[in-house]
Amino acid sequence: MDESFIALQFKDEQLILLDQRLLPAQEVYLSLSTCKEVEDAIRDMVVRGAPAIGAAAAYAVYLAACQFPDTVDFSAACDQLGRARPTAVNLNWAIQRMLAVFFRYEKEGRTTYLAALLAEAHAIREEDIQTNKTIGRIGNSVIGRNATILTHCNTGALATAGWGTALGVIKTAFYDKKNIFVYADETRPRFQGARLTAWELMEAGIPSKLIADSAAATLIRDGKIDLVILGGDRVAANGDVANKLGTFALSVICKAYGVPFYSVVPVSTIDFSIPDGSAIPIEEREAREITHVQDVQVAPTGMQVYNPAFDVTPHQNLTGIITERGIIYPPFKENIERIRRGEIV
Ligand code: MRU
Repeated sequence: MDESFIALQFKDEQLILLDQRLLPAQEVYLSLSTCKEVEDAIRDMVVRGAPAIGAAAAYAVYLAACQFPDTVDFSAACDQLGRARPTAVNLNWAIQRMLAVFFRYEKEGRTTYLAALLAEAHAIREEDIQTNKTIGRIGNSVIGRNATILTHCNTGALATAGWGTALGVIKTAFYDKKNIFVYADETRPRFQGARLTAWELMEAGIPSKLIADSAAATLIRDGKIDLVILGGDRVAANGDVANKLGTFALSVICKAYGVPFYSVVPVSTIDFSIPDGSAIPIEEREAREITHVQDVQVAPTGMQVYNPAFDVTPHQNLTGIITERGIIYPPFKENIERIRRGEIV
């Protein structure tokens, strides 16, 4: 039931990443041995998806500690790493978790703190896989036996340390022998749906069709979709969710037609310090992502571009947020506070 590929692993002091920019045409693995190389890989989207970014960053902190015995240089490398992509909170969540280990073991000497950092990075990766399996089991409860599901962007094994969040729920339902059908949005401009989700759906043998993003509204209006299930890059304390551009529009259509709409995230994606979605930093990416498709120019030279990578869905548009500690339903603010206190919802 597990994937035939491992998109992120650490071996022989190197982080080995499946280069997601080249999928599905080529399966190329990159071996990275410095924090800066991992930072660049995160920025360039060799590795992407909030939990995968967090796991990669954890190994990057270990690599920085190996490279920089001086605490000032080490901290500077970690600060720089933390700015690689601003929206997914998992990046800085993982860095902070690694730094806490560094400061706990620093006085015990270099050998001890390096060993502790590597163990922590492995733990972050392993926990993410186990978390996703738990999320899959919990989320499976909202999937009907004959459900038609619409998903957006890529939330599978490629976007996490393994198995996936929203796609992990979909796979769990499929392996539970549910008669599901999946529509995958292509997800312009980076085509995570067309290139990555379609690839993962086909790998798993899940009945599915790829659609242009703009086809989703008609499918929803015509009653062809039982539920929408997708990921999240940062959840605010009131339940507003930042996720891949296009999520907000989908949520509005689902609300208009009464279609259940779920975001699926590990608790590490909840930013308890941010009161609502207006405070979530939204990454803007380069114009070329819009003016070109791969290397083909599709817009006139010199055309101005606005290219936010994410948008914010207000909690009022969500049916629920599926996590490893249960499904958070309204009132979101109160129930997210219960999660912060360590409770199961
Ligand atoms: O720009 P990306 O590809 O990193 O965006 C990814 C998403 O928006 C995902 O939906 C999100 O990170 C959740 S991945 C489990």
